[in-house]
This record gives sequence, structure tokens and C-alpha cells, in this order.
Amino acid sequence: MMLRSPLAILLSTLSAAAVDFKKDIAPILEKNCYECHSEQAKKKKAGYVFDDLETLKLDINPKGAIVPGNPAESHFFIVVADPNHEAHMPPDGNLSSAEIEKLRAWITEGAALDGAGGRMTPVSSAGKAKPGLPPIMTWVNFEGKKIKAGFVRLEGDNVILRMPATGQEVPYPMSKLDTTSQQQAKDSAQ
Ligand code: HEC
Repeated sequence: MMLRSPLAILLSTLSAAAVDFKKDIAPILEKNCYECHSEQAKKKKAGYVFDDLETLKLDINPKGAIVPGNPAESHFFIVVADPNHEAHMPPDGNLSSAEIEKLRAWITEGAALDGAGGRMTPVSSAGKAKPGLPPIMTWVNFEGKKIKAGFVRLEGDNVILRMPATGQEVPYPMSKLDTTSQQQAKDSAQ
């Protein structure tokens, strides 16, 4: 019998929301942010531009405004999602909750700028052809949250995890895992 744990359900919801930067995120930023944060329009309020991916990329890192895997620590997301924030964005309005959820899902999934020379290489389909599925292991992030997923491979600063509910491969920043899980990833890569 298959038990559906709350975590599995959560993960399947999360994976079902698979977000593509170009298709899902860029249009939100174009509609709500380019007016004031655009390389093309030469508007760089607070130094942020969202239409130049080489520049946007610089904000995506564990210490940046967009923390891959962690919307709650991403200043970019906080100012958008919290209507009471002193620097709430956009200054005169709110994104719809659907738009906010897309941004949240995009950051949770690693904030990849796929196909645009982003810092994260898109997950290649080659890995999926591997015979046999990777065994499910428990991963713990630095906040103590547990994730059950299979190890696929290391890729740059990410470990690619395979979500058991959907079979989707998701990049997860190594720096966000606790030390035991980081070691587990390195051991699995041997
Ligand atoms: C009408 C112009 C305007 C729009 C539209 C706008 N911004 Fe801003 N943004 C600003 C200005 C001005 C600042 C700098 C002043 C400040 O910090 O309040 C800023 C600052 C920021 C900051 C830094 C906040 C801080 O704490 O200093 C972030 C992050 C940001 N914007 C993100 C966004 C995002 C994401 C969008 C779209 C959802 C957006 N902005 C839309 C004008 C705008």
C-alpha cells in the first residue's frame, strides 16, 4: 500500500507548479517591474534591472536578493509579497496572488534562468534515460526541513534531486543542505 505523507503531497504540489523563467516569470516582471527596472528603458531604480539576464543573474545567489530555493529569504520576493513592507514593490500596487505564487515557486525550484545563459544549467533530459530509478533518500536543509528524493547527480553548485511523486528533476543548491546531506550528495556522486 502506498502511503501519501503530507510531505509527499506538498512536494507533488510544488513540482506540479514547475515554472519556466521565460514563459512564466519574465512576463510578470515585464508587466509590473520593467517600467522602473529595465536596462532597455535605462531605468535602474535601486540598481535593479530585470530585463537584462546577465545583470539579474548577479542577484541570484545565496547572499543575493534572490536566494535559490528560499523565497522567504529573498529580498526580491519579500518586497513583492509583503504589502506592508516599507519598500513594497511595485510601489503603487500589488501583484495578483497567482503571480506571487509563480514567483515563489520559481525561487523555490532554484530560480533558474533557463536557456538564457543563466547560472543554472537546465536539467538535461539525458539524465532521465538512465535505467533504474535512484533510491529515495532523506535530505535535510539548513532549516531542518526534510525532503525525500532520489539523487540524480551533482551539477555545478546544485544537487539534482528526483521528486518521487512526479519524477521531476529539480536542482537544489548544495549550500542550502545541512552538512550531513551535503556529504550524502558527494558520496552519492562517487
Ligand atoms: C514605479 C516604479 C517602480 C516599479 C513599477 C517597481 N519598482 Fe522596484 N523600486 C523602485 C524604486 C524607486 C526603488 C528604490 C527606492 C526604494 O527602495 O523604495 C525600488 C527598489 C526595489 C528593490 C530594492 C528594495 C529595497 O529594499 O531597497 C527591489 C528588490 C525592487 N525594487 C523590486 C521590484 C520588483 C520585483 C518590481 C515588480 C514586481 C518592482 N520593483 C517594480 C521603483 C519601482
